[in-house]
Amino acid sequence: MRLFWSQKSRLLAILIISLTFFALTGCAGTPQDILRAYSPAAAEIANLFNILFWVSVAVFVLVEGLLVFFVLRYQRRAQDEHPEQYHGNTRLEVTWTLVPALILAVVFALTIQTMGQVGPTNPPAQGIPITVAGQRWWWSIEYPEAKVRTAGILHMPTGQVMNVALHSENVIHSFWVPSLMGKTDVMPGHDNSTWIYGNIPGTYSGQCTEYCGTQHANMLFRVKVQSPEEFQAWLQSQTAPAVEPAPGSLEATGKEIFLNPNNKCIGCHSIESTDAPLQDGPNLAHFASRECFAGCIYENNRDNLTRWLENPEAMKPGNLMAKALMTLRPETPYHPLTADQVAALTAYLESLK
Ligand code: CUA
Repeated sequence: MRLFWSQKSRLLAILIISLTFFALTGCAGTPQDILRAYSPAAAEIANLFNILFWVSVAVFVLVEGLLVFFVLRYQRRAQDEHPEQYHGNTRLEVTWTLVPALILAVVFALTIQTMGQVGPTNPPAQGIPITVAGQRWWWSIEYPEAKVRTAGILHMPTGQVMNVALHSENVIHSFWVPSLMGKTDVMPGHDNSTWIYGNIPGTYSGQCTEYCGTQHANMLFRVKVQSPEEFQAWLQSQTAPAVEPAPGSLEATGKEIFLNPNNKCIGCHSIESTDAPLQDGPNLAHFASRECFAGCIYENNRDNLTRWLENPEAMKPGNLMAKALMTLRPETPYHPLTADQVAALTAYLESLK
């Protein structure tokens, strides 16, 4: 009996698993890659990384090279051979202390310089203030001047600094957009600040980068860098009141279900478009205008939303909505809504452009 796979089939399995992994992790927006810099700050960080990387490569090659050389050159060649005995070599010891110290001093200076350039508390200019709140497990994004609160997608204009206040009412999260900006912790009881600046239009992936519970890895967001005109148009659209469904329509039934306190939706979600207070669930006034939901892990379409409302626990285990709805129909805690309710709510939410 063959107990182990042959080496070839094992290699093939590793290859298939790796390719599947990379295929599954590919998503909308730029990949989460600090080396693909799309902003001056990200370029500074990538540049520092490259310098540190090549310094480390040089040190590694030198040290390992010398090690291999000495092992081969000075190995014992006869049973009765003994090494020559030394007692110290001052010049050599001073050299191998000073050279690494010098390298570390240069690395330290470069790091301090980069921290000065991209430091979260040193924005290069004052721009648009926004507040980003770490939730379980999604991101709330508020534009206080325009009185707009949205979720999952941070819109910003090119060429303008966004001054970001970071807020948490639960645990520690960390705000990170690898292609645009470094990481800043999001702390309960202490609002940190950072800034983002982008001059290349595009959609960039963001990620919570501090372990914060079951769905930490699925606490994603996107940053949309747009032309100033597009950004203003978007901001304007978000200040409008939520769309009112036509009387008697499926959407109107959905709204009724949504507003009925027994169904618990309004315990956590608001459909007030502006100025709504921060709640446990995302503001849904313009839900349908967002391209993703549930911490940006699902594209926002009818199929995904239906599956989400049918069984939120299966779609994102541990999420607060699944927990809150479990008592609605105790006989089927994982399917808290009836098929009719799901259809009406889906129609209503998809109408909230
Ligand atoms: Cu939020 Cu990890």
